[in-house]
Amino acid sequence: MNTVHTTAPTPALDIQRLRITLPGTARPVLDGIDLHVDAGETVALVGESGSGKTLTSRSALKLLPPGADVQGAVLVGGQNVLTMNPDQLRALRTGQVAMIFQDPRAALNPLRRIGDFLTESVTLTRVMPTTRADATARAVELLQAVGLDSSALRKYPSQVSGGMLQRVMIAAALMGDPALLLADEPTTALDVTTQAEVIALLAELRERFGTGLLFVTHDLDLAAAISDRVYVMYAGRIAESGPAEALFAHPRHPYTAALLASTPRLEAPVGRLAAIDGQPPDLRQELHGCPFAARCPLATEICDRQAPEPVRAPDLPDHQAACHHTDRLEGSPVDV
Ligand SMILES: Nc1ncnc2c1ncn2[C@@H]1O[C@H](COP(=O)(O)OP(=O)(O)O)[C@@H](O)[C@H]1O
Ligand code: SF4
Ligand SMILES: [Mg+2]
Repeated sequence: MNTVHTTAPTPALDIQRLRITLPGTARPVLDGIDLHVDAGETVALVGESGSGKTLTSRSALKLLPPGADVQGAVLVGGQNVLTMNPDQLRALRTGQVAMIFQDPRAALNPLRRIGDFLTESVTLTRVMPTTRADATARAVELLQAVGLDSSALRKYPSQVSGGMLQRVMIAAALMGDPALLLADEPTTALDVTTQAEVIALLAELRERFGTGLLFVTHDLDLAAAISDRVYVMYAGRIAESGPAEALFAHPRHPYTAALLASTPRLEAPVGRLAAIDGQPPDLRQELHGCPFAARCPLATEICDRQAPEPVRAPDLPDHQAACHHTDRLEGSPVDV
C-alpha cells in the first residue's frame, strides 16, 4: 500500500514571536508578533499610525532600525532572515522578497531612465547573473503585465504620472520573481481612481504569478476589499487576526470594533463617525496589561494587570483576538 505524506506548503512569510526593542524606550516596539502569509495569499496588516506596521513588514527584509534588539524568527520560504549573512540578504532582497513603497517618486532616481531602473536590479545584484537582453525582455513583459508598453523604458520618472510610476514600481518588484511582495501603503499618494486601478492590478498579479502579498494599510475598507486574511495591530502587538469577512462582520476585539465604528461610511448616520478617544501608549511608557485598556469601554481590573493572550473564536479557530472579554463582543460589529 502506498502511503501518501501530506505536508503543509511552506508559507511565503512566517513571523514567529517577533520582539524588537529600540534604544531609549521603556517597552518593545514590536512585542510577540505572530503573522504568516501563505503562497498566493493576500494578507492585510492594519492599524493606526505608529502601531508598528512598517517595522513588521520591513522585518521580512531585515531592514531594521540601528541598535534594535531583535528576538524571535522571521522565516521567508522557511529560512530565517534574521540569521542570514550579507550575501544571503542581498539574494533575498533582489529575489525572493520585493517591496513597493508609498511614494514611488521618492524611491526612484530622477536622472535614470525607467528601463535602466527596471533592469539594473537583476543584472547588477542578482546572485544568478542575467544578461541585459534577458532583463530587458523581462522588463517589457512585466510592463505589459502592469498595463504599460515598452515606450516607458525610455522615459524618465518626471515624464510619467504618479499612477504610472507606481505601476513601474510593481513591475520592478516582480523582476526578481518574488515569492513575497510587501506593499506598504502603496496607494496613499494616489488619487482614488488610480488607487482602485493599482489595487485591481495587485490582485490580478497575485493570481497570475502566485505571489504572497502583505498589504500594509490604515484604510479598513481597502483591507476588506483586497485581503483574504487580516491582522489588526495595536501598540506593537496583534490585537486581532482572522479571515477578512469574519473579522469585519464580527470583530472580536474592542479595538477593531472601535476602528470599524470610526471609519467614515457613506451610509452611516452622522454622529457615528467619532474617532476613538485617547491616544495609543507612548514607547516611553511601560505596559503591564492590555495596551488598549486606557481607551477600552470594556476594560475591567484584569485588563490593567495582565496582558491578554490570543483567544480563538469557538466556531472559527483561525479568528483570534487578544482580549480578556472577547465574548462580550459576539455578534456586535460596532456596539462598544
Ligand atoms: N528608526 C526608528 N527609530 C526609532 N523609532 C522608530 C524607528 N522606526 C519606527 N520607530 C517607532 O516605532 C513605532 C512603530 O513605527 P512604524 O512601524 O513606522 O508604525 P506604522 O507603520 O504602523 O505607522 C513608532 O512609535 C515609531 O516612532
Ligand atoms: S483585554 Fe480588556 S482592555 Fe484589552 S481590549 Fe479586551 S476588554 Fe479591552
Ligand atoms: Mg508605516
